[in-house]
Amino acid sequence: MIIYRKASILDIEQIILLEEKMLKDNLGKSILTEVITSDNGYVSVALDGNTIVGYVSIMIAVDYAEILNICVDDNYQLLGIGTHLLNDFFNKYNEIIKSCSLEVRVNNDKAINFYHNKFNFNIVNTRKKYYQDNTDAYIMEKIL
Ligand SMILES: CC(C)(COP(=O)(O)OP(=O)(O)OC[C@H]1O[C@@H](n2cnc3c(N)ncnc32)[C@H](O)[C@@H]1OP(=O)(O)O)[C@@H](O)C(=O)NCCC(=O)NCCS
Repeated sequence: MIIYRKASILDIEQIILLEEKMLKDNLGKSILTEVITSDNGYVSVALDGNTIVGYVSIMIAVDYAEILNICVDDNYQLLGIGTHLLNDFFNKYNEIIKSCSLEVRVNNDKAINFYHNKFNFNIVNTRKKYYQDNTDAYIMEKIL
């Protein structure tokens, strides 16, 4: 059974391992610490036993939210875990958040489909050579 809870700083090591496994990149210990401990941060994890199999990190500025990262272990994908993680966030903040955005690699069809099909995010702009390997980013946005 998958359990969902707020992340703590004790989860950072596992979160970084999951990000590396799924994205070959990670937010880094200091940013994760800041987001987990800040009143304006939202980080939650999905656990199978003691193992973190999914996670989302989001920063909130008044009525605007930016998704920093979301990932689900590939052995646990397509089970609704990513949807559950983001639904929890939108349910909790639906009275407060007016818009939400994120950057995603233009070739990340899985994530683009996920954001568009499950949450009605739309592509609103492109950031050229946004990533270190020069891949462009789409900016996706959802108006609530
Ligand atoms: C994007 C991600 C978080 C989705 O998590 P998930 O738990 O598998 O998603 P859910 O099961 O809740 O939702 C599945 C939906 O995502 C999309 N999706 C997932 N895998 C897909 C694939 N291989 N091809 C196309 N669409 C896909 C579809 O819209 C799918 O809905 P459907 O099953 O009705 O077609 C996950 O694929 C992931 O961790 N990817 C790697 C990390 C990443 O790219 N993160 C985004 C960084 S911006």
